Amino acid sequence: MQDPLVQIESNVRGYARLFPAVFNKAVGSIITDTEGNDFVDFLCGAGSLNYGHNNQHANAALLRYIQANGIQHSLDTVTTAKVEFLEAFERIILKPRALDYRVQFTGPTGTNAVEAAIKLARKQTQRSHIVAFTNAYHGHSLGALALTGNQFFHSQFYGSHNNVTHLPFDGYMDDYDTSLLLEKMLNDSSSGLPKPAAVILETIQGEGGVNVASDTWLRRIASLCKEHEIHLIVDDIQVGNGRSGKFFSFEHAGITPDIVCVSKSIGSGMPMSIVLIRPEIDAWKPGEHTGTFRGNNLAFVSARAVLEYWNDPSFEQQIEDRSQIVQQKLQAICLNHIDQSLSFRGRGMIWGLDMRCGDLASQTIQNAFKEGLLIEGAGASDQVLKVLPALTIETSVLQEGLRILESAVDAAIASRHYISSKTPTTAK
Ligand SMILES: Cc1ncc(COP(=O)(O)O)c(C=O)c1O
Repeated sequence: MQDPLVQIESNVRGYARLFPAVFNKAVGSIITDTEGNDFVDFLCGAGSLNYGHNNQHANAALLRYIQANGIQHSLDTVTTAKVEFLEAFERIILKPRALDYRVQFTGPTGTNAVEAAIKLARKQTQRSHIVAFTNAYHGHSLGALALTGNQFFHSQFYGSHNNVTHLPFDGYMDDYDTSLLLEKMLNDSSSGLPKPAAVILETIQGEGGVNVASDTWLRRIASLCKEHEIHLIVDDIQVGNGRSGKFFSFEHAGITPDIVCVSKSIGSGMPMSIVLIRPEIDAWKPGEHTGTFRGNNLAFVSARAVLEYWNDPSFEQQIEDRSQIVQQKLQAICLNHIDQSLSFRGRGMIWGLDMRCGDLASQTIQNAFKEGLLIEGAGASDQVLKVLPALTIETSVLQEGLRILESAVDAAIASRHYISSKTPTTAK
């Protein structure tokens, strides 16, 4: 289909090019275009739709709220929607996990939370340096961009690289434990690394290619931060909200970050970002970090509704059951193409199928789209297919999406064989 917005929307549009369709309806994990084509959604709004499109509980609460003329915009005044969200967040999420955090509402998107987190760490410690990691993705406003690894998003003219050092993430140097490098650099006054205000990390790098940090590595980083009085910021924007199988991704490692960034699925599709702050380091003066759209009341309402999933003791098991289905299929795909050395990795409901080649991944994405599946690439050259189904996806829909994925991979590899069999290997 011809992109109808080609004349009016900025050249910057991206997903519109990847998926040439006009979408107009979505329920759960099925999204439908204007021509009546259904697509299984493994894109999941890049992690914003963990509870599916138009989640019935969120929608019912929103409809009730709007019909009752509930407050929509309120800056950061107190509204019943905010009170009810915060009360439920504390009762359902924080207390059962013995977590003591204050909640800061920032502007509505993930990068706003990251900006607030690094500003707070800098202000509170009175240090300006931040350590981030290779392949990190923290957003595109200039502070967050400075932490983001991929050079594709950078330009020397943005001037945003100040006061950030990137060190190797877990697994970046094969079996070498990269926490040893951080340890050595922190302990060596001649390493060139200024004592940082914070270390920021994703426990599973989503955009960076589904790189899963081991629990041991995370614990080592957390204990180094503690030892050196450096704040540990976990960016749980993509892999929080249950994506890893637990509400917070750092629960697996048993660590307690000083600051946590949460966004994407927290509002069940409504824009919302929060920063969780250890109370002792909540050094903000009233109104010192502000913004017009903090505290979107519609997001409070939908967020409150979907928190109920976490009241169900079997919810984590349901995620795990779906996770097993994904793993089995990815394993089968890799075994079927053993000559291609494909591999897969992930946790919970975030999985990466590493195609080792951006072109092959891109061909697979196009094939999948034609067959009725939305999926995107991740990693330095978009070589990893990011399998991100909703946590609540029906198993039959999950299986159908995985079937399409398998078929799309098969076709992409078959066409590559065809092309290479037609291409002379040496120039005569
Ligand atoms: C880990 C992480 N941090 C930050 C962001 C930025 O969030 P947003 O695009 O909502 O600004 C993203 C977005 O993908 C992300 O995955």
